[in-house]
Amino acid sequence: MSRFKAVIFDLDGVITDTAHYHYLAWKQLAESQGVHFDHAFNENLKGIDRMGSLDLILASSSRTYTPEEKLALADTKNLHYQELIATMSSKDLLPGAVEALDAVRRAGLRIGLASVSKNAFTVLGRLGITDKFDYVVDAATIARGKPDPEIFLKAARELGVAPADCLGVEDAVAGVAAIKSAGMFALGIGHPFVLTEADVVITSLKEFNLAAY
Ligand code: BG6
Ligand code: MG
Repeated sequence: MSRFKAVIFDLDGVITDTAHYHYLAWKQLAESQGVHFDHAFNENLKGIDRMGSLDLILASSSRTYTPEEKLALADTKNLHYQELIATMSSKDLLPGAVEALDAVRRAGLRIGLASVSKNAFTVLGRLGITDKFDYVVDAATIARGKPDPEIFLKAARELGVAPADCLGVEDAVAGVAAIKSAGMFALGIGHPFVLTEADVVITSLKEFNLAAY
């Protein structure tokens, strides 16, 4: 039924629309520092960890920031983000997400989650899908964020599956790059014009068809 032995999913923007909440929280933070922020700029932040995202935003600022100031700004953004996700529930699952997870399970493949978000366990809990994963990478244990392959390689190792036997699912340019440099097949969620490195791009998990990849 499938040539793969595991499917490793990203979370934000793939399984749930937290990508929008990250956008709102970063936009408020950026504008508080006089930095223009729009959807095009946000595309560069998708999949990038918290401090990496902040550095990209502050690169457009006219002033410099001390490490302490940066930590305070990152905390401000995170508190706002946590307020936004506090009322999430299973109604916030993106269309096709549960069906895709269940199809992978039925096909007998292992299922991993590779999100660089330190809020991933909270979000999974609110969505009520924690037990659908065989392994969830703890972002706090990852030294290098996407596009580095570390997080996908760790997921594969913990699942006991060779990278070449893994299908990675991502909505971010940096995430697709991480999957490809891990030596995996990349399924992009979004637009082929944006996710140019992906092996296949679909609009959403509603179109997920394991047998087709
Ligand atoms: C990624 C998101 O999944 O997690 C990024 O795509 C986000 O937008 C990153 O910055 C880190 O998330 P958090 O919750 O640790 O700030
Ligand atoms: Mg994502």
